[in-house]
Amino acid sequence: MNKESVINYKKASEYWAEIPATLDGVLGGFGFISDIDIDGSTLFLQSILSSKNAPATRSALDCGAGIGRITKYLLAPHFDTVDVIEPDEKFIKSIIDFVGEYKIKMGKLYQISLQKFEPEKKYDVIWNQWVLGYLTDKDLVSYLQCCRNALAQNGVLIVKENVTSSGKTEGDETDSSVTRPLKEYLRIFKLAKLKRIKQCKQTNFPTGIYPVYMFALIPNDDNIETS
Ligand SMILES: C[S@@+](CC[C@H](N)C(=O)[O-])C[C@H]1O[C@@H](n2cnc3c(N)ncnc32)[C@H](O)[C@@H]1O
Repeated sequence: MNKESVINYKKASEYWAEIPATLDGVLGGFGFISDIDIDGSTLFLQSILSSKNAPATRSALDCGAGIGRITKYLLAPHFDTVDVIEPDEKFIKSIIDFVGEYKIKMGKLYQISLQKFEPEKKYDVIWNQWVLGYLTDKDLVSYLQCCRNALAQNGVLIVKENVTSSGKTEGDETDSSVTRPLKEYLRIFKLAKLKRIKQCKQTNFPTGIYPVYMFALIPNDDNIETS
């Protein structure tokens, strides 16, 4: 069976419409891993921000932002302004309250799906976490190309996603998503003309959940598309 057939945009949005706007809600009952996740992301982000040719810290975009967990705990402390993309009405309405003191740093809140998003400005960092499994391969490549074109000078695109250990794409009927293996992400990044400048596996997560990888990507205008 083609595991991609599990992806269904309407069913996924119906699934999220029933989920409460809480940390446990957006993390599928794993709210307790949020601090460890943010610690790993902070180290990863800080290593990028202190690297040669580092991005500026003017603007970040949080994609598939949920209630603004990553905006509040990771992006707002490091960037002047944070825009978010989140299709679920209840989640996006909860973001300003959730981020508390950081509300002054909030820029545009786009209530739209990633596959329909058209960036209006350039970003220093675009953060995609636990959301790309909702997009078909074709839409994911187009979306990543859009993000690539929306990077400011020295801008970096971050992907933080579950990956399978089986080497195969696995479908989840519950939320109509897929989990891809590492090699599939690498193939998709290449198709989107993105080059990996850093890759790291999240540590200290509980056993029994998918491994989680972080990738830092920049435009690779030399690369030749292959299928
Ligand atoms: C597992 S939650 C992760 C939320 C956030 N990234 C975090 O780590 O706290 C998945 C989020 O993706 C959103 N989502 C699902 N399908 C999407 C799509 N096609 N485009 C944008 N966001 C989507 C859901 O509404 C939900 O907020």
